[in-house]
Amino acid sequence: MPRIRVETDPTYEVVVGDDVLPECATIIDGYRKAVIVTQIGVAQNYREALGSDRWFISIGEGETAKSMETVDMLGRAFADGGLLRDDLVVAFGGGVVGDTAGLAAALFHRGVALLQIPTTLVAQVDAAIGGKTAVNLPEGKNLIGAFHQPIAVMADTSTLSTLPDREFRSGLGEVVKYGLMPEGRNILDLISARIEAIRARDEVTLTEIVVACATIKAQVVAADPEERLGLRSNLNFGHTLAHALETGGGYSFTHGEAVGVGLVFAMALAVAMHRVDATELENLRSILDGLGLPSQVEGKPDQDNLLAIMRRDKKSRGGLAFVLPSANGLELVEDPPPKALAAAFLAVGA
Ligand SMILES: NC(=O)c1ccc[n+]([C@@H]2O[C@H](COP(=O)([O-])OP(=O)(O)OC[C@H]3O[C@@H](n4cnc5c(N)ncnc54)[C@H](O)[C@@H]3O)[C@@H](O)[C@H]2O)c1
Repeated sequence: MPRIRVETDPTYEVVVGDDVLPECATIIDGYRKAVIVTQIGVAQNYREALGSDRWFISIGEGETAKSMETVDMLGRAFADGGLLRDDLVVAFGGGVVGDTAGLAAALFHRGVALLQIPTTLVAQVDAAIGGKTAVNLPEGKNLIGAFHQPIAVMADTSTLSTLPDREFRSGLGEVVKYGLMPEGRNILDLISARIEAIRARDEVTLTEIVVACATIKAQVVAADPEERLGLRSNLNFGHTLAHALETGGGYSFTHGEAVGVGLVFAMALAVAMHRVDATELENLRSILDGLGLPSQVEGKPDQDNLLAIMRRDKKSRGGLAFVLPSANGLELVEDPPPKALAAAFLAVGA
C-alpha cells in the first residue's frame, strides 16, 4: 500500500489504498482505550469494518455540527467513558468529523493521540493531512482551532464508493486545484487519461489520485507546518472567490464546486494579466466540464458583495489577494487591475 511520510515533528504516514480499514483496526487495538468519532452515514456503512463492538460517538451533520457545543459534548463523553491521556481519539468521516474530533483530541487532557480515517475525497486529499483542526463560531468559519498532527492518516479509497455524487464531485474540485499546481501536472494527465474511471470511482485510479494529491499536501505541510511562512497559501489557489461564493454569495455550491468556479476566476485573472496563455483557461474549463463540475455561477453575481467578502479573505492585507499561476509557478498577487477583475468576473458568468 502506498505510504507517504509527512515530515512534521513528530512525523507520520498517510497510508492510501482500497483495503486500509483492517490496518486501522490493528492500530486501534494497540491502545488501551479508543473512541471513534463519526457520523451516522459513515457508521452505517463501515462500523463493521472497524469492529462494531468498539466505542463509537456520532456527531451531527454539516457546518453547524462543527461547533464548540459538539466539542463540549465530545469532551464530556470522553470523560464519562474514561478516556485517559494516553488513549486514542479516532476521527472516522469527512472533514467535519476530522476538524471537530481533531480539536476535541487537541484539547482533551491538553492533547491525546488522534488517528485520522478520512472517508470523503475532500478529507483524503486535503482535510485529514496537516494537523489543522477547528470549529466554527457564529462570527465565522474555523475561528477556534489548533494544530494537532495525527499519529497517522489512513485513507481507504473503497469508502468513497458510498459517497453521495455531489460530495464526490466536490472532492474533485480540490483534486483539480492540485493538478494546476506546478508539482501536480501528473494529476491533470491522470484526469485526462482516466476520466471515465474517475467518474466510475475505480478504486485503483482513485488511489493514484489520492496518493498524488496527498504527496503534494504532505510536502507543503512539512515546509510550513504551522502556516507561519505563507507557503501553505498555494493550497489556497482558487479559494479567494470560492470562499466568497460559499459564505456570502447566496449560492448553494458545495466547497469543491465553489473551488472549481474560483479556479476559473483565478485563471481568467492570470490570463488578463498576461501571466498565462488563454489556452490554460480553456483546458481548465474542459477538465471541470468532464468531471461534472460547474465553471460559472448561475444568475448575475453581485460583484460588489463578492469583492467586499474577498477583501476579508485570510490572505488579504487590506486589499484583494489571489494565488495566481505564472510561468514560474503560483504566486500571491495583490490588488489586480480593475480591467483584469472585470474579465475574471465575465469568465465566471458575470
Ligand atoms: N483541516 C483542514 O485542513 C481542512 C481542509 C479542507 C476542508 N476542511 C473542512 O472540511 C469540511 C468539509 O469536509 P467534507 O467535504 O469531507 O464534508 P463532510 O465532512 O460534511 O462530509 C460530507 C457528507 O458525507 C458523509 N460521508 C462521509 N463519508 C462518507 C462515506 N464514505 N459514505 C457515505 N457518506 C459519507 C458525511 O456524513 C456528510 O454527510 C469543511 O468544514 C472544511 O472546513 C478542513
